[in-house]
Amino acid sequence: MRVLTLTGLLTTIALTLPTVALAAVDEDGATALLKSSGCVACHKVDAKGMGPSFKDVAGKYKGKGDAVDTLSKYVTSGPTVKIGSKEQKHPAVKSNDEAAIKNMAAYILSR
Ligand code: HEC
Repeated sequence: MRVLTLTGLLTTIALTLPTVALAAVDEDGATALLKSSGCVACHKVDAKGMGPSFKDVAGKYKGKGDAVDTLSKYVTSGPTVKIGSKEQKHPAVKSNDEAAIKNMAAYILSR
């Protein structure tokens, strides 16, 4: 009986660990900012819309250590990009909260 309990406990710990590792990203905060900034009109997690899917973005930056900073700059500086067939400024995130913007970048990169 005691052995079974211990096995159950270890299984619980093993199942809990990955969740703890991912807890660095505040998903609710990130998705709320993506919504309030209008990003979701062009970006989805899994599918290409007007803009690339976040999975594609995550793939592009995989293994690049400064990716959070690069993306944070991208979504605040409004670089000129091709949206549809027109060259225009990429929409900027509607926040000045650096931590929230970095969290959102980390969210995109972890898709
Ligand atoms: C009007 C449509 C549109 C909206 C709204 C929009 N994007 Fe984009 N986004 C695009 C397009 C198109 C691209 C691809 C540009 C290119 O070809 O380089 C892009 C590219 C990106 C990239 C990839 C950058 C890279 O280096 O590959 C990220 C990240 C991104 N957008 C995040 C956001 C965020 C965050 C928001 C909200 C603040 C947002 N986008 C709003 C259309 C949009």
